[in-house]
Amino acid sequence: MSADRLRLDDHIAALDAPEGLKAVLSVVAATCAQISDVVAGGALAGALGASGQINVQDEEQKKLDVMTDDMLTQALLACPAIAGVASEEKDEAEIGTNAAGEYLALFDPLDGSSNIDINAPVGTIVSVLKSPSATPTQGDFLQPGRQQVAALYAVYGPQTMLVLTTGDGVRGFTLSNDGQWFLTHDAIAISPDTKEFAINVSNQRHWAEPVQRYVQALLQGEEGPRAKNFNMRWVAAMVADVHRILMRGGVFFYPWDRREPNKPGKLRLMYEGNPMAFLIEQAGGKATTDGVQAILDVPPTQLHQRIPVALGSANEIDAFAGA
Ligand code: F6P
Ligand code: MN
Repeated sequence: MSADRLRLDDHIAALDAPEGLKAVLSVVAATCAQISDVVAGGALAGALGASGQINVQDEEQKKLDVMTDDMLTQALLACPAIAGVASEEKDEAEIGTNAAGEYLALFDPLDGSSNIDINAPVGTIVSVLKSPSATPTQGDFLQPGRQQVAALYAVYGPQTMLVLTTGDGVRGFTLSNDGQWFLTHDAIAISPDTKEFAINVSNQRHWAEPVQRYVQALLQGEEGPRAKNFNMRWVAAMVADVHRILMRGGVFFYPWDRREPNKPGKLRLMYEGNPMAFLIEQAGGKATTDGVQAILDVPPTQLHQRIPVALGSANEIDAFAGA
């Protein structure tokens, strides 16, 4: 069934990219395949439940957050092309010891990890940047998303898929039962129009006025100013919500809200906003903080910096900008 399909390994080998980047992508793909096994093992793999620790974001870590963070960190630091790694789960970036290290990998090892205990989708998000040297500083990680050389996520759902861009469009690969990635979704493109939105409506009373106005108009459907009915979906794992948008269009929002007025939002720029924005733009969508400002052009100031996110079908993001 998959004999005539392109393998991810062959796709990576044929990329017009330095060998070091190809090595990094191969290591990430192999590790995501291993993570998929652990996730699928669930309780049998001893993977469910809390780790008993709190991470740098003040979030309770799941056992799988810790396991997947270790798996990616160890695999990447062992790759000679890697100069350093940064993770959602660790306070500071970890600098490697590879004399020829030329890349930095920043990742959310298990996005949406509260889904794991209810057997709902989770994912891994990875951003790859060039390193200015083999011994980078913490500050070397703070590059705008526009400078990413690759971005990908793996979604662990009914199928495990890896969705990748190296700046030449977006491709989706599906993991076979024997642990091989095969190209199943070529030239992924996001439809510019949509009737589907994703936002956590339980935060409605905390939103700023433009977000209130925009969502109110969607909820009014055919009887309101938009004169069409909208549907709503919320998986509570950004990877799964973004994956749906890449597959059939839609828009996703995690806006600033008044609960923590000093924080600009919930999602993190360096390993959630930037890699997803790269994938969304490469698929023809828009990825912004407010409908206008491109996430990829936001100057980073901190590794765990938060940003508001509004991304997806281009015309609908424009409608949000005008709300
Ligand atoms: O990583 C943060 C995250 O889990 C995202 O994957 C997801 O989109 C969001 O938080 C869900 O937030 P909430 O629990 O507020 O719905
Ligand atoms: Mn996350």
